[in-house]
Amino acid sequence: MDVDISTTLCGVRLPNPTVLASGVLGLSHEVMVRVAESGVGGVTTKSCSIKPRPGYHNPVVLDWGSGLINAVGLSNPGVEVMVEEIQAAKEILAPLGVPVIASIFAETIYDFGNAARFISEARPDLIEVNISCPNIDDRYRLMFAADPYVAGQVTRRVKLNTDIPILVKLSPNVTNLVKIAQAVVEAGADGITAINTLGPGLILDIETGHPVLAHGTGGISGPAIRPIAVRCVRDICQAVDVPVIAVGGVANGRDIVEMLMVGAAAVGIGSAIHHRGIKVFEKACGELKDYMVTHNYSRLGDFRGKAL
Ligand SMILES: Cc1cc2nc3c(=O)[nH]c(=O)nc-3n(C[C@H](O)[C@H](O)[C@H](O)COP(=O)(O)O)c2cc1C
Repeated sequence: MDVDISTTLCGVRLPNPTVLASGVLGLSHEVMVRVAESGVGGVTTKSCSIKPRPGYHNPVVLDWGSGLINAVGLSNPGVEVMVEEIQAAKEILAPLGVPVIASIFAETIYDFGNAARFISEARPDLIEVNISCPNIDDRYRLMFAADPYVAGQVTRRVKLNTDIPILVKLSPNVTNLVKIAQAVVEAGADGITAINTLGPGLILDIETGHPVLAHGTGGISGPAIRPIAVRCVRDICQAVDVPVIAVGGVANGRDIVEMLMVGAAAVGIGSAIHHRGIKVFEKACGELKDYMVTHNYSRLGDFRGKAL
């Protein structure tokens, strides 16, 4: 039986629904190409800012048994370098039919627009707007993603500065996720990515009593957060009518089916690369196809949204 696992995100075709989640590998074009050759459906770059950022000291990531905890500090070489990396990646990925999603972040609403304008020079297929980082415009250092009005303002500013479709990446660390999703869609978001890491969390070295991560606290990802991600994606898909990339703990074909059933158009995979290796995309797609054959489904649309 022939199964078609291709999907479409804001008019962009993906050969399969798996996407490399932002921050986990997508910094250089060499690595993006390696991921594409490992069977991924789309590649998201690490989030980049206008100026380079060194990030935090090591250790920045720890496997704590049920997932990862990380505080990388959004280290990146800045948008100028990322434009070159994306251009180089696109030359190789475009013929393979694998789209590139450029992730951006900024410290002010205004700079989100500038970052979008600069990154658009590389002509990524989509832009992901990471609003789940602290907002230094705000005295209380709230995330942009914590407030519907601010999240909408960032979205508007980005839309004014690019003609490339945008996905806004939301945080689970809020009390009104649906209102935030509605605000970004009203402001013009073409799609949503959900979720960023949960937390922050804290893991101690019990010999010293100090946090293991140099930064202290960090965001939680991996299997432990998957049920929360599934619930968030379901709530968003029920509330808004734009494509959603579901991210959070996805590791295999079963997890992809679950995310599609709550309405996702594609799924991001990050932490699972740590325990299943870079071939996780190919393996998960094989498991997805097996499930579809067993259940007599020939397209993702046959069961997408079944749980809504
Ligand atoms: C080491 C690490 C770095 C990350 N960096 C970014 C980043 O730069 N931008 C971003 O939007 N998300 C970043 N994330 C969050 C992931 O893209 C993803 O939303 C989250 O890890 C949940 O998915 P997972 O459980 O599959 O890892 C990072 C996650 C990890 C583990």
